[in-house]
Order: sequence, then structure tokens, then C-alpha cells
Amino acid sequence: MHLNFLLFLANVLGIVHGKVTVYYQQGQTPLGTASSTANPTENTGLAAYNQVTLSPPALPDPKPPTDFVIQLQNGGTPGASIPQEGSFFGFSIEMSVVNQVLGKNASHLQIPFLNLMANIQQRAGRVLVRVGGNTQETATLVDSLPDGRALEKDLLGVSNPTQTPPLLFTPEILYMMNNISSLVNVRWFLGIPFNDTNNFRLGIAETGTAILGDYLIGLQAGNEPDLYLRHQHRQDPYGPGDYVNEVGKLVTAMAGDSFSRARSLLIGPNLAMGDWTPEQIWDTGFVDQFNDNLQYLAMEKYPTDNCAAQFNTGGTLQVPQEVFPSFLTHTAGQNIVKPYLNSTLFAQTKNKKMLMFETNTASCGGFPGISDAFGAALWALDYSLQMAHANFSGALFHVGGQNVFYNPFTSPPTNESTFHQWTIGPIYYSALVIAEALGSSNKSQVLDLGINGGNEFTPGYAIYEDGNPVRVVLLNYMTDASGASAYTARIAIGGSGINQPNASPAQVKVKYLSAASVSQIGNITWANQTFGSHFDSDGRLMGEEVIQTVDCDQGTNLCSITVPAPGAALVFLSDSALTETGGAPSTTFATTALTKTLNTASIDPTLLATSNGHRTGKVGSTSPGSASSGWGLKDTLPGLSLLVAVAAGGMVLGRALTP
Ligand SMILES: *[C@@H]1O[C@H](CO)[C@@H](O)[C@H](O)[C@H]1NC(C)=O
Ligand SMILES: *[C@@H]1O[C@H](CO)[C@@H](O)[C@H](O)[C@H]1NC(C)=O
Ligand SMILES: *[C@@H]1O[C@H](CO)[C@@H](O)[C@H](O)[C@H]1NC(C)=O
Ligand SMILES: *[C@@H]1O[C@H](CO)[C@@H](O)[C@H](O)[C@H]1NC(C)=O
Ligand SMILES: *[C@@H]1O[C@H](CO)[C@@H](O)[C@H](O)[C@H]1NC(C)=O
Ligand SMILES: *[C@@H]1O[C@H](CO)[C@@H](O)[C@H](O)[C@H]1NC(C)=O
Ligand SMILES: *[C@@H]1O[C@H](CO)[C@@H](O)[C@H](O)[C@H]1NC(C)=O
Ligand SMILES: *[C@@H]1O[C@H](CO)[C@@H](O)[C@H](O)[C@H]1NC(C)=O
Ligand SMILES: *[C@@H]1O[C@H](CO)[C@@H](O)[C@H](O)[C@H]1NC(C)=O
Repeated sequence: MHLNFLLFLANVLGIVHGKVTVYYQQGQTPLGTASSTANPTENTGLAAYNQVTLSPPALPDPKPPTDFVIQLQNGGTPGASIPQEGSFFGFSIEMSVVNQVLGKNASHLQIPFLNLMANIQQRAGRVLVRVGGNTQETATLVDSLPDGRALEKDLLGVSNPTQTPPLLFTPEILYMMNNISSLVNVRWFLGIPFNDTNNFRLGIAETGTAILGDYLIGLQAGNEPDLYLRHQHRQDPYGPGDYVNEVGKLVTAMAGDSFSRARSLLIGPNLAMGDWTPEQIWDTGFVDQFNDNLQYLAMEKYPTDNCAAQFNTGGTLQVPQEVFPSFLTHTAGQNIVKPYLNSTLFAQTKNKKMLMFETNTASCGGFPGISDAFGAALWALDYSLQMAHANFSGALFHVGGQNVFYNPFTSPPTNESTFHQWTIGPIYYSALVIAEALGSSNKSQVLDLGINGGNEFTPGYAIYEDGNPVRVVLLNYMTDASGASAYTARIAIGGSGINQPNASPAQVKVKYLSAASVSQIGNITWANQTFGSHFDSDGRLMGEEVIQTVDCDQGTNLCSITVPAPGAALVFLSDSALTETGGAPSTTFATTALTKTLNTASIDPTLLATSNGHRTGKVGSTSPGSASSGWGLKDTLPGLSLLVAVAAGGMVLGRALTP
């Protein structure tokens, strides 16, 4: 009966609107028999669902002061960064997993991915996503694949057993990206394969610009060329000048009209800081030589690696518990950024923007208990603000698939996609905070304030617009359940300089990024909302948003902000500083794309989910277990909750029905 109703509805709407997509969303709990036996998937053994929790590091001795003043000035502050865009914090998706993350094809998009991007878009205006990585270097665009798939690994192309198989992909991948951008404002970066610079495979540049148009904003010329020699991708000798010559060959190869746009979208030199310094490239005259071709300059950097443990390289094993403290300090981000300070100044002299094109906690997949714990959210927040302060213009955090610990977001294993949702990692929360901290004005300038005597466990940043402070980010890396390591920062604006009357506001608004410990995996909250724990999320925040209002002391002109241990606070110094980052219309997509059904013999899978979505008037906010958040087939008795999304001429409607 319910099924008939579903069919009926689909038909009616189909007639009315022409193009109909019917969704069905699984519930939060396993369906059918899976719930009566032990859940077989609690522990998949895959890195992305690691459950190993570390101990939080011991408290520092001596402990930092827990009460101090932050004096801010209106009318310009020396040392603030170049203006930053709200899309500063973006994502880098390894090309080989793009079909797990974005969708199967242009008409089967991953709804959680759309939601995750929509969350950022709402706060920042747009989202930057790179599709690439090591696997871009040997990838080949083909017209079609025999089995109708959009992407596959060319197993015949593997020349030795440990090598990653080359990828074959069809224009469908590019159409899929374009379709995503027609729903949420995602701007894409791609990479031109550089494994053979005598026979460039330029399909991705030609077809990519043709299909994606303005949604494509950059094309990498080579990925980590300073590691080519070490990885035996080039013959010795191969130095900075050789790479620069290869970029010259690329530009020559892209001479035709069909490359007129692609030719001006290049990104280089994309060094890993392996065997060359950036200056070795700058000193060849690279930027002047390719001034018309270079859209961005870029670097890629992971502060450390976990290769010995992940790939049995024979190298020294790093013990996560011992490495953990090195991420939980302000010096972590500062040390990554330091070698680039000369280069970001150099980039400014050349009128180029510098990106951190691929980064995360540690290469070779990150560390269990570090990369997936709350501490990584604080680390990525501090590190990103440090990059913004140091005049990078964006940073893309890498997504590597099921076998890594550091993913900002992970789709469930394909064999579990019918009863599990996505897993949102700590790094994604940092992305949300950065989007709100920088906002959508494109005018935000970031300054590392060196607060609390520059104490490494309690860093803070101010964000300025038009020279005036608008938001402040305060972090506390310590974990102390007693409450004794929470600190109070007393913020004052103006009042101390010549012609600086007191300008402290009457009250400020505060949002907190929270968890009980830096080691906590899952259930992080941002302003009291969460994406839950493993397999819990459809990409929308759950729970009620809580924004604190703090009244400032009118006698002392101080606004006292308490920052728990651990935690971070985003302080909005005015109501407009808050609405700028929260007021944009939001689009969320209230369903999950389904590839298969479990225990759903009575439902024809072809009826079920594909793409498109559901527009809500405000920020998508659902409560776990509530009728509107997720539905299992079991829940269809007695009340079927069904979402029907209709896409008609750009209008996207959505309704939840309970017949
Ligand atoms: C799904 O595949 C993963 C990885 O191969 C495996 O660990 C897991 O047990 C599988 N889940 C089910 C329900 O079969
Ligand atoms: C897209 O992928 C879905 C799910 O794998 C499949 O059912 C559908 O046939 C595909 N569509 C096209 C046009 O390939
Ligand atoms: C580059 O990669 C392509 C696709 O995998 C392969 O066919 C070709 O042989 C490679 N060329 C070199 C020089 O490695
Ligand atoms: C999605 O991509 C397909 C090509 O595969 C195209 O025909 C269709 O128009 C696209 N839809 C949107 C909304 O862009
Ligand atoms: C900074 O970079 C420029 C350009 O490569 C170089 O000439 C200069 O020596 C560098 N300065 C330092 C201190 O490394
Ligand atoms: C960032 O650029 C601004 C503007 O050029 C400059 O004043 C500031 O010192 C730079 N910051 C760093 C850390 O280099
Ligand atoms: C910010 O910059 C982006 C990219 O350059 C642009 O698309 C957007 O319109 C700008 N927003 C504002 C408010 O200027
Ligand atoms: C996350 O929170 C939910 C709801 O409070 C709880 O049921 C679950 O056990 C928590 N998970 C973890 C891993 O802490
Ligand atoms: C935080 O969210 C939870 C879950 O939605 C809710 O029960 C709780 O009331 C919220 N906290 C506040 C202070 O509103």
C-alpha cells in the first residue's frame, strides 16, 4: 500500500513536473534483521572508522595564565594579512576516490557531499575543491568505458605490484562536477597529467574547460615535481630548471584555440618541499616567464608522515601517542608555514595568490587517534588561520578514501551504504569555523595576536574588515575535565592609543567548537550542533544551534570570553559580524543517494534515490531520531516518511510526507 502510494506520487509529480527524483533515506539504526543481531559493521577495520582513542597529553607545566586582556584597535593594525575570501578552507579529493565522494555519475550525486558543500557555501559564498593528487599524474580521459562506468582503475597498466593502477575516466566525471556546481557553488581545480611531458594528455584541460566553464578555476601543472626523481618518475638529473622547462612545453602544447582559457589557468610549482626549495623555482624566473599562464602559485605540505606504519617502508615507526602533543600547540602551524613566509611575500610582489594545495595531519593516511580526533580540529583551525595570517590565499585539506585516518568526510563502504551514512571528521568542523570566521565579504584580514604572552597552548587571532576587528578566534589546546584550565580572555577595543576612544561593544556573540577531550573521536559540536559519530551523518548539522551572548562590562569596557579546555571560541564583535556569516540562504539536500537496498525486497531500487535536492528556508538542522531526519524502511510501518524532490527549471522543492 505504501509502495503503491510512492509509485502514485512519483507518477503524479512526474506528469506535472517532467523530471522527478524519488528519494528514500535510511534510518540512523541498521535496518531489519541487522538490528536484532550484533551490528556486523561496528568495526570495519578500515582506517576511516578507527576507534582507537589516545590519552590527551599531560597539562603543561607551568600552566599558562588563565586570565588576560586582549587589546584590539580600530582603524588599521600593522601585520594583518592580505584580504582573504571565506572559501579559504577547501578540500582536495584524491582522484581515485572521486566516485565514492562526489557520486557515481552526473545523475547520481552523493547527497551528503552536496550538503557538506552547501554548509560551507552558506557561510562563505563558495567552496573550493580540487580533484587530483598522485593519481592525476597517470590518469587518462577516455570517451567511454566498456561497463558504462565513469571511472576505473586500469589494472593492466600496473607495472609492479605496489604501484597505484592508472585511472581511466570519462567526461561523465566532469559533467558530474558541473552538475554539482549547478546545485552548490563549488569551484574546481583539476590537474594535467605530468607523467609524460613529451606526449601530454591534455583531454582534461580541453574537455574540462569546455564542460565546467567558469566553475573550473585552476589546472595544476605537475604534482610534487620535487619528488619525481625520488619516486623514479624522472631520470637523473632532474632539477628545478627541468620542471620549469616542462611547464614551457606544456604551454607550447596548449597553443590551440581550444586551450585559450586553460592556458591561463595553470597552477605551479606544487612542490612538496621534498628536494627543492620554493626559492629554487622562483630564482629561475618561473613566475615572470609564465605570468600570463599562472592563475595561482601553490605548495603542498604535510607536517609529518605515517608511511612506516601504513606501508611497512622499514622507516622509523612513529608512535601516535608520542606524536600527539606535537599537534596540540600553536607552534605546529607556525612551523609548517615558516618556510613559505618568503614565498608568500614574493607572490605578493608578483601579484599572484599562493595556495596550500594539498595538506593534512600526516601523509600516508595520517595517524589513528590523532587525525580523527578533536585535537585535529583545533590543529587545522589554528594552522589554517596561521596560513591566512601568513598570506596564503587558500588551503585544501585532503580526502583520501576509506584507508586513511584524516578525511574531513568519508562515505560508507559501498557494501554498507544502505544502512550506514557518512562519517564527518574533525577537519570538516575546522572548515565550518574558518568559513564563519572569514565570512563572505572577501575583505577579511587575519592577524595572529600572540595573546597570553604568546603562550603556545592558548593562541588567538583577530579578523579585521576595513581595518576594524570584527571577529576573534580563541583556542585552548589543553584537556582538563576539572575546569581549572579554561581561560578567560578579556577583549577590549580601542581606548589605549591616541585618538582611540573606547569602542568596545555592549555585547558580543560567541560560538564554541567543543568536545570533552582532544582525543575524542566523533560527536564534536559546533555551536551545539554535530554530525554525530561514525556513519551518523547525511551532511546536515544535527541539534539546536546555540549562540552565547556575552554582555561586556560597561565600566571596564571588557568583554570576557571563557574558552574551555579543550575548545575554541569564535567571537562575533557585532551583530553584523555574525549575520554576514550566517545569513546567506541555505540549501540543504534532505536525502541520501542510495546505491543498493538491504532488506528491502519489496521496493524496486530503480525507484530510489539519484540526485538533486530540497531547499529549506534556514540552516538545515535535524535531530537524530526525529521524524524529519532519517527514515528506515522499518519506520514505514505505520507511518511512511518519504521525501520527494522535484527539479523543474532550477526550482527545487521538497516535502516530507506521512501518509
Ligand atoms: C564491507 O567491506 C569492508 C571492507 O572490505 C569489510 O571490512 C566489512 O566487513 C564489509 N561489511 C559487510 C557488512 O560485509
Ligand atoms: C548512474 O549511476 C547509477 C548508480 O550506479 C546507475 O544506476 C545509473 O544507471 C547510472 N547512470 C548512467 C547514466 O550511467
Ligand atoms: C604515462 O601514463 C600513461 C597512462 O597511464 C601511460 O600510458 C604512459 O605509458 C605513461 N608514460 C610514461 C612516460 O610513463
Ligand atoms: C547533468 O549532466 C548531464 C550530462 O551527463 C546533463 O545532460 C544534464 O543536463 C546535467 N544536469 C544539470 C542540472 O546540469
Ligand atoms: C626570498 O625569495 C627571493 C625570490 O626567490 C630570493 O631572491 C630571496 O633570496 C629570498 N630571501 C630569503 C631570505 O630566503
Ligand atoms: C602579509 O602581507 C601583508 C601585506 O603585504 C604584510 O604586511 C604582512 O607582514 C604579511 N604577513 C606575513 C606573516 O608575512
Ligand atoms: C568574493 O570573491 C569571489 C571570488 O573571487 C566572488 O565570486 C564573489 O562574488 C566575491 N564576493 C564579494 C562579496 O565580493
Ligand atoms: C555520540 O553521541 C551519541 C548521542 O549522545 C551517543 O549515543 C554515542 O554513544 C556517542 N558516540 C561516541 C563515539 O561517543
Ligand atoms: C544542544 O543540542 C542538544 C541536542 O539537540 C539539545 O538537547 C540541547 O538542548 C542543546 N543545548 C542547548 C543549551 O540548547
